[in-house]
Amino acid sequence: MGIGGGANESHIPMIGIFDSGIGGLTTVRAIMQKLPGYDILYYGDTARMPYGSKSPETVRQYALENTRFLVERGARIIVIACNSAASTAMDAVTQTFDLPVFEVVNPAVEAAIAAPLPPRIGVIGTRATIASGVYEARIKALQPNATVHSVPCPLLVPLVEEGWLDTPETTRIVKKYLHPLKTKQIRTLILGCTHYPILKELIQKKIGKSVRIIDSGSCVADTVVRYLAQNPQMDARLEKNGEHRFFVSDITAQFQRSARTMLQGPIHLTHVRM
Ligand code: DGL
Repeated sequence: MGIGGGANESHIPMIGIFDSGIGGLTTVRAIMQKLPGYDILYYGDTARMPYGSKSPETVRQYALENTRFLVERGARIIVIACNSAASTAMDAVTQTFDLPVFEVVNPAVEAAIAAPLPPRIGVIGTRATIASGVYEARIKALQPNATVHSVPCPLLVPLVEEGWLDTPETTRIVKKYLHPLKTKQIRTLILGCTHYPILKELIQKKIGKSVRIIDSGSCVADTVVRYLAQNPQMDARLEKNGEHRFFVSDITAQFQRSARTMLQGPIHLTHVRM
């Protein structure tokens, strides 16, 4: 039996979302657009980010702690809005907590193979996500004839966090990372990191207009919408007062600025210690 069921019933039932930091706010934004009015509880583990350069064991431990934080404050469904955590900790989270858990990898894979395009798929993500091989394994499981080319892009998260979105340096780095994927003539590119949608325009420009870009955060939002439509009892349990609460484990002026960029709107971050 998981530990999700009985936790703090006095808290308002909400959708709980976590990321290593503030990149997951791009997923929150997609969920807010697709499920307007639903109460959302967000936890960004800014004190311990990045996850993308940490070992699977450490990321698993953090993912369990983050989930517990959300469940104890009323989360009734969990969205892992971090590819690094999803690719290493999904099983640990679902085995430990007795509630629906969604993550960013599977919905992106399903969207990538659904397109009637030659299955030459590129994946970009953090080192942890790419090293896990999770995208390649799941794509191949569903579409064995697909070719998958994966490239770790470790510099993109710090560039996004710094707000270097359209500087010449960022443009050059994106171009360099995407070069091997261009030469493989990929037709679909999965943004396997929730920070990357902020660079989507630049990435599209550098990979070419004909490549279809899949944003993993936006895909998971569609999955949650479908789940709630198919599970009206769970849907009825979730509060819909339009309340959005954002917790972070560390707070700086830079985090505040980046959070506004990620959410593309005003946001109030609350600092908590676990
Ligand atoms: N946003 C996280 C992800 O989707 C990456 C950030 C990090 O490395 O902590 O993988």
